[in-house]
Amino acid sequence: MRTDFCKTFGIEYPVVLAPMAGVVPDALVAAVSNAGGLGLAPLWHVNADKLRKSVRNIRRLTDKPFGVNLNMEFPSMEHLDACLEEGVEIISLFWRAPGEFLAHAQSGGAKVIYSSGDAADAKAVADLGADAICAQGWEAGGHVRGTVGSMALIPAIVDAVGDVPVVAAGGIADGRGLAAALSLGASAVWVGTRFLAAAEANVHPEYLSHLLASSENDTAHFDNLFDIGWPDAPHRALKNSTSQMWEDAGRPDLGQRPGEGDVVASSPIGGDVLRYQSKSPSADLTGSVEAISMWAGQGVSMVRKVQPARDIVRDIVDEAKIALERIRYR
Ligand SMILES: Cc1cc2nc3c(=O)[nH]c(=O)nc-3n(C[C@H](O)[C@H](O)[C@H](O)COP(=O)(O)O)c2cc1C
Repeated sequence: MRTDFCKTFGIEYPVVLAPMAGVVPDALVAAVSNAGGLGLAPLWHVNADKLRKSVRNIRRLTDKPFGVNLNMEFPSMEHLDACLEEGVEIISLFWRAPGEFLAHAQSGGAKVIYSSGDAADAKAVADLGADAICAQGWEAGGHVRGTVGSMALIPAIVDAVGDVPVVAAGGIADGRGLAAALSLGASAVWVGTRFLAAAEANVHPEYLSHLLASSENDTAHFDNLFDIGWPDAPHRALKNSTSQMWEDAGRPDLGQRPGEGDVVASSPIGGDVLRYQSKSPSADLTGSVEAISMWAGQGVSMVRKVQPARDIVRDIVDEAKIALERIRYR
């Protein structure tokens, strides 16, 4: 199963650990890379010194390829330069157009994966020379760039970008999803929600128990609900007491929402967490974790147990092989 994406990025299996700020520690990035997939470290929300420390730590834990994810909503050339100085070979850019970051990363020797939610945007960045495009469908957990579901988005982007490898994201949580994505012309899958249940993930136990018990009906896409710290960025999360309060109040606008300003949790490093804050429920939080943004994709119904990351990679690949065989003989 060595696809074009695998060849471009020097990995064995076409399974990418989605970068997920706050809940993907260095050990999880390394575990996925050691298993033959590609670990992506979300390091845009830490300072450049911490970024360097993480990169060195990941390198201590794996000699396989891994990458760093940067967020173009909060662009920082200092972060990109730190990556390049540390010899990071793969940079993932998401949310906004990459601007000068694409050429700068490539001139520093890195390959660039650009996350996109529509075919015209993906084509524009592929034409600029991106090494791969991540097609993020509407089913995805966390911040969601576009409005099109994976089934329609993946082939649209595949058709638009020519030979540039496409990685499919959004609602892909097992090998059937990998087989489907390959059938649609993608060259790898980018898996988020399933890896929240990796043994190495830095998720709060309460968040984890909600994930393990949730069905495909239990998430919702919000335009601007968990907006403190990152406004006007649509996202998908588990429905919770905060979203229920807001629905019950008739979905009021910003400034009139119930419980606005409530401190619902706190973290020893980040301090108070507000009810409508954009914040991954990491293991270090105390308080009412259920009330904050429990990011999750619609594929959450396929997340039923905690496993070491290497087993998740292996299961996805093995199941995909079986699914592809079944297609052949049906
Ligand atoms: C908890 C969480 C945090 C996320 N944080 C980031 C991030 O920091 N950078 C990024 O590019 N995408 C982020 N995303 C989006 C994922 O990279 C990915 O697109 C998404 O998880 C794929 O859909 P899935 O959850 O259905 O697998 C996040 C997603 C989740 C669930």
